[in-house]
Amino acid sequence: MPFKLFKATCQNRAFFETALDRASKIKSEAYILPEELKTKKIGLLFFEPSSRTRWSFEKACINLGLTYMSSVVDANTSASKGESAVDTFSLYKNYGFDLIVMRANSDQMLLDSIHDTKNKHSFINAGFGEDSHPTQALLDVFTWSEKIKSLKTKLLIMGDIKHSRVARSHLRLAQILGYQVGLLPYNNFELSKNEEDELKPELIFKDRAQALDWASVVMCLRAQKERFKPSSSSLNYSPEPLKKEELKPSHLVMHPGPFIRDEDLASELVEDEKSLIFKQVANGVHCRSALISLALEYEGDSLR
Ligand code: CP
Repeated sequence: MPFKLFKATCQNRAFFETALDRASKIKSEAYILPEELKTKKIGLLFFEPSSRTRWSFEKACINLGLTYMSSVVDANTSASKGESAVDTFSLYKNYGFDLIVMRANSDQMLLDSIHDTKNKHSFINAGFGEDSHPTQALLDVFTWSEKIKSLKTKLLIMGDIKHSRVARSHLRLAQILGYQVGLLPYNNFELSKNEEDELKPELIFKDRAQALDWASVVMCLRAQKERFKPSSSSLNYSPEPLKKEELKPSHLVMHPGPFIRDEDLASELVEDEKSLIFKQVANGVHCRSALISLALEYEGDSLR
């Protein structure tokens, strides 16, 4: 069975601890991809826009010594002539990749194609609609754990929770690794009741001061305007950027990016000493290198 970092696969504590340990070894140059794996071919298939995720996967391939093809499905592809995402994905699978890293809009037919038992490829989820972004959650944990020397913290995620795959992946990973996630959503940008029951946030705050008082790590999110039309719906919001004066001396600030200065957080906080934002970017390469190497080593149901 090929490796799949997609819903309901490879999601146990031992797997994520192995991935974090591998990322640490890669960062300290204590891991080199075995020669026999360097012949493997990687396809990066992106149906949705990306900067840091796609570029960090590309850099991870370069660092590991792997050959990759990076493919963006945009107006210059046959999607513009009406080819469906599932047919584009089927086409891509013919090129003989061993591992496909994929970002896409959440789509049950695509998910079914990924889980098709006839697939010989492994898959890594590089962001799947509003549903999931597990490599981002992993690199976030890696980044705060470097700073506080523990996987466990109180993570407050604030802003547009409703459309956030990062928030959903953190809520799932928190249940596996044992950290706490509190949510401070904009009005009308909450999870549905069903999702709250499934994803089990530790706390859902209404009061911003209380939320910040509870948190150790504060993660701001961008309003995902590409997923709603502010002018024609009830989904309007008044950005209240996180400000330095609201923070305690011990607070750490994170943002998965892309960040909008003075909308998600005060511009000065981006480069502030409390900010782990650029560490998240750098660690993205190490964590994604770790996941690629583990995917290539994967044999059947276990990791070598
Ligand atoms: N965090 C994140 O996924 O950023 P990109 O959309 O730039 O890849």
